[in-house]
Amino acid sequence: MTDGADDRLPTRVQTPRLLLRCWQHDEASILGDLVEGNVEHLRPWMPWIKFEPQTVTERVALIETWTRQCEEGGDVVFGTFFDGIAIGSCGLHRRVGAGALDIGYWIADDHTRRGFATEITSALTTTAFGVAGIERVEVHTDEANEASAGVPAKLGFHRDRVIEKEPTAVAESGRSVIWTMAQADWC
Ligand SMILES: CC(C)(COP(=O)(O)OP(=O)(O)OC[C@H]1O[C@@H](n2cnc3c(N)ncnc32)[C@H](O)[C@@H]1OP(=O)(O)O)[C@@H](O)C(=O)NCCC(=O)NCCS
Repeated sequence: MTDGADDRLPTRVQTPRLLLRCWQHDEASILGDLVEGNVEHLRPWMPWIKFEPQTVTERVALIETWTRQCEEGGDVVFGTFFDGIAIGSCGLHRRVGAGALDIGYWIADDHTRRGFATEITSALTTTAFGVAGIERVEVHTDEANEASAGVPAKLGFHRDRVIEKEPTAVAESGRSVIWTMAQADWC
């Protein structure tokens, strides 16, 4: 988290096919239906899936936490909307230190392999480099998550290094691949 409103990250990003915008507190049921319809798709790789099922009240609280973080200049969690329908979620995160942001994403199972995660990551990389002081964008993928690794690879991110990390989701190997893009290399 950073000092305040002046450091806020963008909250709305239009890509060629998708609208990325912050989840609203009255969209807890939409988020819930989306997650609940994709639990087995997400379980291998997403650490937070172990908290499912969640009540609507818990999801409202979660969205309110995301809203607060965003207003305080921290991470932004976007709903991913295709033709007005929520098909996933993604985010810009400040967890990789000063001068850098990292991108996270997931796409509903019935919308995968259509280039959406690539389109999101491309747009969020451009967005990140528009933020004052950001010189590097990262994507972290578990070494066993071939689908996720395909996204930064396709966009020309550099496979920088592998770090050992306690697995946080059931299919993770515990080896996290750090993909990086420098501002100077992003056109
Ligand atoms: C990983 C995930 C976000 C990919 O989303 P997507 O929109 O299908 O990705 P894209 O269509 O942009 O694919 C980009 C590239 O990734 C690779 N890829 C994507 N899905 C793949 C799969 N199931 N198997 C192998 N490679 C795959 C391919 O190289 C693909 O390029 P191609 O279609 O030209 O061959 C999606 O599968 C998902 O949500 N998985 C579960 C959650 C998750 O793992 N999130 C990421 C945690 S780091």
